[in-house]
Amino acid sequence: MTSTFKLMSVVGARPQFVKAAVLSAAIQEHRPDIREVLVHTGQHYDDRMSEIFFRELGIEAPAHNLGVGGGSHGRATGQMLEGLERVMQREGPDGVLVYGDTNSTIAAALAAVKLHIPVAHVEAGLRSFNRTMPEEINRVVTDHISELLFAPTQTAESNLFAEGIERKKVHVVGDVMYDAAIYFAKRSARPSWFSDLGFDVGRYVLCTIHRAENTDSLHRLEAILRGLALSGSKVILPMHPRTAARIAAAQLEIPANVTIVEPVGYLEMCWLEANSTLIATDSGGVQKEAYFHKKFCVTLREETEWVELVDSGCNVLAGADSLAIANAISSPLTCDFSREFYGRGSSARAIAEKLWAHA
Ligand code: UD1
Ligand code: UDP
Repeated sequence: MTSTFKLMSVVGARPQFVKAAVLSAAIQEHRPDIREVLVHTGQHYDDRMSEIFFRELGIEAPAHNLGVGGGSHGRATGQMLEGLERVMQREGPDGVLVYGDTNSTIAAALAAVKLHIPVAHVEAGLRSFNRTMPEEINRVVTDHISELLFAPTQTAESNLFAEGIERKKVHVVGDVMYDAAIYFAKRSARPSWFSDLGFDVGRYVLCTIHRAENTDSLHRLEAILRGLALSGSKVILPMHPRTAARIAAAQLEIPANVTIVEPVGYLEMCWLEANSTLIATDSGGVQKEAYFHKKFCVTLREETEWVELVDSGCNVLAGADSLAIANAISSPLTCDFSREFYGRGSSARAIAEKLWAHA
């Protein structure tokens, strides 16, 4: 064990800012001997996709922002790899920490491992078993080049063992997104437009759509919008820029019962989740947040990494099947929301302690 430990944490996309907010706070509180250097790849760059999270959640400004936003997978990942290698060589961290399964995750893990810097992966072991998803490739590769793997669930741990990852590298710590939901609950905020746009508490469906498989297929995107229309429910849809661009390019019609708003900050998102009737989403994080807020979730995908939600009946996989989406929204299942699938809200602290123990 060393007396100080320089940890480079790499973030780039919206869900990573939420996770970093609670983990950085836990490191500062419980393991101040770890000196964290935050790097933003710039993958997400609009104010509402990036800066708003830093402002609202009190995340320190990144020490480096590589400004690599947009472009194809190869180009963006390649530019991140090059930029990250440069800052790692300059900063000389003792370890690199990555979150989830985005292009920023794989770029950082790859840059670090080639410089012989140990990698810690938060949210390790998640699998959809669908290798056409860019996220599946990112997480499989990242897990196999990481030294310390923080699995949120027992299922994630089993997935890693099944792939032959050494047992001693894996720690089941719960999910930092559950920590975040608890930590920021008191600060959740009703959006200023909520009543002006004619919405009532508890009487709307909250929807998000951004997965490549849904946005890059016009057929699927149209089918999802049709499903929302058929449900007849009032729907609030904070729209990811990727989805907005596709809808605009194809001039798709937005159903009359669907209200599009700009992406919201995390504090407003928590409020919208907590006060919804139910949630329809293709997001990984939002599926879990539905459960944290005790809301039934209609998942707009054919499979999920968060299988325990489906097994417990709190989440149904409706894919991009209009009728299945409309039926699931109209007749949500009842289920038990009390099971502790994702720990008890102390995941960030557990990770901080393990990082220090391995320093
Ligand atoms: C990325 C992640 C996905 C994650 C999601 C979280 C990968 C491969 N995908 O998907 O796993 O669930 O983030 O939201 O890493 N754009 C903007 N402004 C922004 C950000 C994006 O206009 O601030 C537009 C750009 O046209 C960009 C496109 O969205 O090319 C896609 O962005 P990108 O970061 O590549 O992928 P996401 O779909 O956001
Ligand atoms: N989120 C948000 N505003 C939005 C949509 C999502 O703050 O308009 C938050 C959401 O509450 C969750 C995270 O962003 O904490 C999930 O990110 P996203 O759905 O983009 O990615 P995924 O989890 O699918 O990787």
